[in-house]
Amino acid sequence: MRRILVTGGGGFLGSHLCDRLVAQGHDVLCVDNFFTGSKKNIAHLLREPNFELMRHDVTFPLYVEVDEIYNLACPASPVHYQFDPVQTTKTSVHGAINMLGLAKRVKAKILQASTSEVYGDPVVHPQQEGYWGNVNPIGPRSCYDEGKRCAETLFFDYWRQHNLRIKVVRIFNTYGPRMHPNDGRVVSNFIRQALRGEDITICGDGSQTRSFCYVDDLIDGMMAMMDAKDGFTGPVNLGNDQEFSMLELAERVINLTGAGSKFTFIPLPENDPQQRQPDIALASRTLGWRPMVPLEEGLRRTIAYFKSSF
Ligand SMILES: NC(=O)c1ccc[n+]([C@@H]2O[C@H](COP(=O)([O-])OP(=O)(O)OC[C@H]3O[C@@H](n4cnc5c(N)ncnc54)[C@H](O)[C@@H]3O)[C@@H](O)[C@H]2O)c1
Repeated sequence: MRRILVTGGGGFLGSHLCDRLVAQGHDVLCVDNFFTGSKKNIAHLLREPNFELMRHDVTFPLYVEVDEIYNLACPASPVHYQFDPVQTTKTSVHGAINMLGLAKRVKAKILQASTSEVYGDPVVHPQQEGYWGNVNPIGPRSCYDEGKRCAETLFFDYWRQHNLRIKVVRIFNTYGPRMHPNDGRVVSNFIRQALRGEDITICGDGSQTRSFCYVDDLIDGMMAMMDAKDGFTGPVNLGNDQEFSMLELAERVINLTGAGSKFTFIPLPENDPQQRQPDIALASRTLGWRPMVPLEEGLRRTIAYFKSSF
């Protein structure tokens, strides 16, 4: 049994991670300022004796005694991280400094939830961890992309300078129950629109591709990384390497919901990548990890969640 801190534990991924860690019997401390997360996501855990919730903003220092830290705190979708871009950068950068400082003080192992956005609009496909990315430092997405890149820099400097036990995972598009319904992300958008019988909004011509990882698979990968041997720092890509175009995704959502929705086409947002696909060879080689849940099954579970929460 370990004492584990999950920052951003009230969010989509964080709440699933807390579920799993609590079920394994660990002593879990969930820290969240509930900017995008929700108490509803973790309400069922409050009665568990090995779960504790603290409202706290990671841009301020935190003094607790823990063995492991999963640092997930950060708004993850453009509509949320662009709402207050300065705070987004602070959350990534000051949040990383505070959590790394804590890890150093209590000699904890620390994992950073980084993102495929560190690759920006990639010119290399699929993206391997050795690719340095193609990121606009001054655009509307930069607060998130560059904040996460700087957080990675801090992790690796703490590792080089202070011998901290660090783990960095680069998460690609993940979906599943407890996604924020209004986060503007493509999976939640399509499902919400289909369930309401509205037309489905496609950016550009819908030929741009994404890969979608089901949340349970992602959490498996994240926990495997935390448990991997100390010398393995990452960064390691976690995501599903199967690509689907936006049009294919929309068609599947329409089939599974039985909606009669049509398509409406709107212009692509600025700096929106044409293609995004992880190379997950490193994760599969070092962690023995691969995503297992097919898109069809993951969508079915997500649609069931959205139906029940409407
Ligand atoms: N979901 C994905 O597809 C995806 C992809 C790449 C990376 N990630 C990363 O994974 C992490 C979790 O993402 P998610 O999808 O669960 O998003 P989310 O918005 O549901 O969760 C983020 C959580 O962090 C909390 N938070 C935000 N700022 C905070 C602060 N200053 N102090 C304390 N808590 C704060 C929010 O309230 C929320 O509960 C994020 O760091 C995100 O960048 C997610």
